Amino acid sequence: MVSALVSALVSPTVNGSTGSMTGSPSPLRLGVMASGSGSNFEAIAQAIAAGDLNASIEVVIYNNPGAKVVDRAARLGIPVQLLDHRCFEQREALDEAIAQSLQAYQVEWVIMAGWMRRVSQRLISAFPNRILNIHPSLLPSFPGVRAVEQALAAGVKIVGCTVHYVELVVDSGPIIMQAAVPVLPDDTAATLQARIQQQEHLIFPQAIALAAQQPTQRPTH
Ligand code: GRF
Repeated sequence: MVSALVSALVSPTVNGSTGSMTGSPSPLRLGVMASGSGSNFEAIAQAIAAGDLNASIEVVIYNNPGAKVVDRAARLGIPVQLLDHRCFEQREALDEAIAQSLQAYQVEWVIMAGWMRRVSQRLISAFPNRILNIHPSLLPSFPGVRAVEQALAAGVKIVGCTVHYVELVVDSGPIIMQAAVPVLPDDTAATLQARIQQQEHLIFPQAIALAAQQPTQRPTH
């Protein structure tokens, strides 16, 4: 009963392992972009290690020196590269450097896992339809920063998270997967964010597999 309720809150639902869902025997080559904690990055890495996602994380690009994601990547033996936005005068120059790094690692799919910068057409054009983002709301509600606080202020009773393709307008691209989370009477932004993140960690690996399963999505080399 409970599991039926839980699975009903995730759409689309995926039964069991997504390890074989990529439609290809070769692992998807992922590049992760992260600005902070990196819990979503680690959840994806764990899904890969568990055989639930047929992929490999080739590099983690981060923009904030000291970001916790670096410690997680070190523990997992995954390369990192710092590209500090403060060192680039223009957004396009940063995105050019990001694209070059990802291409050097032969990344196929770009995973924005808590990347707190807008991206330009330069990066989007380098990976057309192959950049995914996770956002802590049921888009199109509450795009942009402080989504959980926005939702609490609006008084909504159901919140959640969304994995979507990245387009130029922030948090606007086609939706791949969503999970719903009820707002409890005593919720603060912190408690609600924590429960949303639990769902993020579940759906992000599944959404990557779903996106890659689309026949036109896998790039040919
Ligand atoms: C997540 O809540 C995600 O929705 C948002 O940024 C946060 C990143 O968290 N885009 P983490 O760094 O993965 O822990």
